Amino acid sequence: SLIPSTYDMASMGFPDYGGGQQAGHAHGAGGLDVATLKGPSTGDPDVTVTLTARAEKGKYTLNGVTPGPEIRAQKGQLVQVTLVNDNIPVGITLHWHGVDVPNAEDGVAGITQDAVPPGKSYVYRFVAQDAGTFWYHSHQVSHEQVRLGLFGPLVVTEPVFSDGIDQVAQVHTYDGRRTINGAAGESALPAHAGQVVRARVINTDAGPLRAWVSGAPYRVVAIDGRDVSGPTDISGKSVTVTAGGRVDLSFTMPASGAARVDVGAGVALVAGGLAAGKEPAEVVDFLSYGKNAPLGFDPARATRNFDYRIGRRIGFLDGKPGFWWSINGHLYPDVPMFMVSTGDVVRMTIANSSGEVHPMHLHGHHAVVLSRNGVAASGSPWWIDSLDVGDGDTYEIAFVADNPGIWVDHCHNLKHAVDGLLAHLAYT
Ligand code: C2O
Ligand code: CU
Repeated sequence: SLIPSTYDMASMGFPDYGGGQQAGHAHGAGGLDVATLKGPSTGDPDVTVTLTARAEKGKYTLNGVTPGPEIRAQKGQLVQVTLVNDNIPVGITLHWHGVDVPNAEDGVAGITQDAVPPGKSYVYRFVAQDAGTFWYHSHQVSHEQVRLGLFGPLVVTEPVFSDGIDQVAQVHTYDGRRTINGAAGESALPAHAGQVVRARVINTDAGPLRAWVSGAPYRVVAIDGRDVSGPTDISGKSVTVTAGGRVDLSFTMPASGAARVDVGAGVALVAGGLAAGKEPAEVVDFLSYGKNAPLGFDPARATRNFDYRIGRRIGFLDGKPGFWWSINGHLYPDVPMFMVSTGDVVRMTIANSSGEVHPMHLHGHHAVVLSRNGVAASGSPWWIDSLDVGDGDTYEIAFVADNPGIWVDHCHNLKHAVDGLLAHLAYT
């Protein structure tokens, strides 16, 4: 029997089975109707992709592979993706992780659409407004569907010719084995002496990973799809890639033609047969990396101030007793929504005293990190859509509410989202 979508059931883990008896999207306060917040409905797409999802051999594939095909667009292009569900019983969606799409294209089952049942399809259309490294994944029972393979890379480039090597390194763990672009161990990096390499590291796992380059000086040129201002050489150090997050590494291939990009667990992209070195002990702190630059808005003029305090407590979640994640002391769906109006400057304090790290992911917006544990950010504006908040840490972030709709702000250790670590950001 089919369960109609409801607002409260709609989340990472409470599946939306797409009942059809009622609209599969939410209505906000003040009559805001998510269904009207769509991408351009007319115009020929510049990039057209069809992705067919299938359960086969214990995995979920898109067009027969996982990760799914790389989608590439140039900044400003209209992207159209048709998602076809061949045989996945509970239905599927696609969410464009890190792309600030119009709300109705966000792919969150039960909030912005019904899950797409077997035999049916759904069309997403959006303009790729920002160049950067992103990814897509199902947002229906996503802790299972992402782990099983329903995801892939999405790259938006500047519309200028580059003769360098532009390489996605999508990291995922299947059955305890870490892979890059689906391959375990070492894969070839097809780069030659003198070429500039941009390695786009995408972490699709539930926890953080470390990435580093050996054989050449390297820099972090983008985080979560936003350029770093004044990036400096970090040879001999590594960077953290948050679960759900992306870090773009750039280096020039040395005269020897030998270099490598490691992502831990012996998994790497290797050019010229360079052997693995030791994992660097020092990790770059993005709070002070790069050069200061204007934000484009003034966080001191906040019109909304929110607390997002992550804890843990005993109680009932969706009727089930347990020891659940709590937000400001409440259990989902009893968590008050963060209400904003278009144009608000929002400051949010995220404090974690729950005993574990949480990679917090905000849909539809990019936020800038203002401080951690009282230490103000001093480097490049550190724009994020995915942020590791360690146990005992307090981050202050800020963003402009410029994308109306009903959004989720949840932990990207996706099992945690099912277990209550999810809140809504809603526009009046
Ligand atoms: Cu990448 Cu709500 O997810
Ligand atoms: Cu978490």
